[in-house]
Amino acid sequence: MSVDMPVSQRLLDWYDTHARTLPWRTPPGAVERPDPYRVWLSEIMLQQTTVAAVGPYFGKFVGRWPTVTDLAAADEAELMAAWAGLGYYARARNLIACAREVTRLGGFPATEEGLRALPGIGAYTAAAVAAIAFGERAVVVDANVERVVSRLFAISEPLPGSRARIRALADTITPDQRAGDFAQAMMDLGATVCTPRNPRCDACPLTSACAAHAEGKPEAYPVKPAKKAKPRRRGIAYWLESEGAVLLIRRPDKGMLGGMRALPGGEWGETTEAAPPAPARWRHVGTVEHVFTHFALSLDLMAAELPKRPVEGEWWPIDLIEQAGLPTLYARAAALGRASSEMLAL
Ligand code: ADE
Repeated sequence: MSVDMPVSQRLLDWYDTHARTLPWRTPPGAVERPDPYRVWLSEIMLQQTTVAAVGPYFGKFVGRWPTVTDLAAADEAELMAAWAGLGYYARARNLIACAREVTRLGGFPATEEGLRALPGIGAYTAAAVAAIAFGERAVVVDANVERVVSRLFAISEPLPGSRARIRALADTITPDQRAGDFAQAMMDLGATVCTPRNPRCDACPLTSACAAHAEGKPEAYPVKPAKKAKPRRRGIAYWLESEGAVLLIRRPDKGMLGGMRALPGGEWGETTEAAPPAPARWRHVGTVEHVFTHFALSLDLMAAELPKRPVEGEWWPIDLIEQAGLPTLYARAAALGRASSEMLAL
């Protein structure tokens, strides 16, 4: 391959033979554009989440809600339950708001600026959908692209301060044609070749142009700021069992895991104090450790069993607990609660 060939052309040639086949994509160079609804949905799901984790959720969503109008009419609780396990639940709450707005508009706006004005669509998603679904030249920078560009130009300034420079440099290599293929080629290169550790430089179409490779230390980029330890919070959750069911609540719409089903318990903070949902012989059955973006949580699980249901509420059959749409933290707590059942009967 010619060393003089522009980076964009080398990358597009590589993409023509190495593109990953993914359910929201059209093949490289395809004339027909992918469905904007599928592109938008996949981009929202892929924020902070791997392609492997998204796959089954994407299939479930487009099967259940095949068009943006179907999603606009979705039952909110059903949608939140379908999202359970993907994390970052604000995305799911914004999903319906955005689908409703798009339905009201009669379709997705075809420009980056128009997309940016929709609920839950930030700079990255607007650029990605404009490029992939509408072929607009847009500079699409996600974490994969950040890594590729940081290495290509050996950017020594640490993240996040280097973001404006990374974007400006990404702009310089973005072609006018095949904008969607180029964006996804950068993502695929970052995900499969220019990986965070052990990058496969021998399989990379950009090696001869890569400053980090020339320095012999591609892994040193992107330069990261020194890591701060995450603050730790404590919380408490109650597993109250009665007549084969467990008491669930729905968390308030605002805040962490907003709108999701959960076990009862109080706020999370420095200490754990929360009134139990009913008087009973409560026992501490374990602690679930869970890491969120900005803090780590130790959730103490208390469990008890009562012969008669002591309060009104959503009593969920324990045998069907997997179908409750619990977010991962509470699904793990529920697994612990369920395993402790025998002990409660003592
Ligand atoms: N990550 C975010 N968007 C993506 C896409 N369209 N293809 C592959 N990985 C992605």
